[in-house]
Amino acid sequence: MTTETPTAPGNLPPRIVSPPPGPAARALIERLAAVECPAITARRDRRRAAGGDDPIVWAEATGSNVTDVDGNRYVDLAGGFAVAAIGHRHPEVVAAAHAQLDRLIHTMGDLFPAAEKVHLAETLARLAPGRLSMSILGLSGSDAVEAAIKTALIATGRSRILAFHGGYHGMSLGALGVSGYRASFRQPFASMTPRPELRLPYPDCADCPLGHQYPDCAFACLDQIARILDDPTFGGEDVAALIAEPIQGRGGDIVPPDGWLTRLRDITRERGILLILDEIYTGFGRTGRLFACQHEGVEPDLLCVGKAMGGGAPISACIGTPEVMQAWGRSTGEAIHTSTFLGHPLSAAMASAALSVIVDHDLPARAERVGQRFLEQLRKTLHGHPAVRDVRGRGLMIGIVLQDSHGRAAPGSAVLAMHRLLGQGWIISPGGRDGDVISLAPPMTIDEDLLDAFVEQLPGVLAPCP
Ligand SMILES: Cc1ncc(COP(=O)(O)O)c(C=O)c1O
Repeated sequence: MTTETPTAPGNLPPRIVSPPPGPAARALIERLAAVECPAITARRDRRRAAGGDDPIVWAEATGSNVTDVDGNRYVDLAGGFAVAAIGHRHPEVVAAAHAQLDRLIHTMGDLFPAAEKVHLAETLARLAPGRLSMSILGLSGSDAVEAAIKTALIATGRSRILAFHGGYHGMSLGALGVSGYRASFRQPFASMTPRPELRLPYPDCADCPLGHQYPDCAFACLDQIARILDDPTFGGEDVAALIAEPIQGRGGDIVPPDGWLTRLRDITRERGILLILDEIYTGFGRTGRLFACQHEGVEPDLLCVGKAMGGGAPISACIGTPEVMQAWGRSTGEAIHTSTFLGHPLSAAMASAALSVIVDHDLPARAERVGQRFLEQLRKTLHGHPAVRDVRGRGLMIGIVLQDSHGRAAPGSAVLAMHRLLGQGWIISPGGRDGDVISLAPPMTIDEDLLDAFVEQLPGVLAPCP
């Protein structure tokens, strides 16, 4: 193992030659709006309502850099939604993809696997914490969550899955049913998502849902969860699993205090409830450990991973302990959980290459060191800034919470910030339940000079929203 950063290409500073979105991007978005479901392109209206503009259109990406169709070069501080953990088009992932393209692209799901799928499943078993060693592969984060929900129902014979307020687990119907991110995402599909479930309080200690102060609260939110589960009128005996993100990502980069996850594990174990940890965002190094649950040595029953896993290829996994996975029983002929592209050789080869890069270069350690310095610098520079309420995060998963000029919450403000930053050549993603968090998830390979340059420019770009 080497702890040196791989000197991958693609660590150049921003270069804006045509204020984004430039003419080529505008023309493409105009064409897209005519042929894509408006539910997706409608984001365009939301951007405009928030004072922004059309999106840019990506043409090329290498390392931390993205180039758009108008020739502008950006630094991707969103890491392509946290997928580009080793940067875009890492040379080792590209080489693995080329070699695989020359051999085999597709097989037949569960019926006839490829060696690349076997190798990937073995790698996951080796890397996953503790006894987590049997996986179900998927194509997206939502797929992994669906597999975890099904496994929990099968393994326990129970019917309910509990989840947290603000949690984001994906957009497929099962995953949506356990998401607590925005009720408006679920409401149109209420008939197809499970009965309305209570959402448990997540430890957002800067804005405690129970109105307490940490640490005086002594984890009152966890006591409340235990009380709910033990209430004879609640039906806790029918709860199969509790699903949680160890750090809420899309919900706004909310980091629970130390000890929270350990106690959550105890509460679930004591009641025979499975713990599903959704590490689709946090997994594979971003928070400073290979998995965020390893900060506390917690081992869930089921672990969902995706995003960084594929090095850019769409692939995910639900990894479980043998007891839980064995509950599916032997196949009696046709697999009761599969899909056409399950264990796709091209994606599996890319994923194995990406995971090797992460492990061989000890990128979690780099994410911890670089992230800690980045967080401290952001906090120092933004301290007292009228537009900033809080800067939080762990490793290279950081959120900057915005506020208005009166120091009040500023819903939607992160969209406007995204546009201002794009104009300076920085890509961020807007996050938080109220759209007021600048979410940063840069590649773990990013050059620190780029982060320094961002810290220097940021105060001038952020003005309080009216
Ligand atoms: C924690 C978490 N779970 C699940 C998902 C859904 O993943 P996908 O969009 O690949 O379906 C996401 C996506 O952002 C996520 O952050």
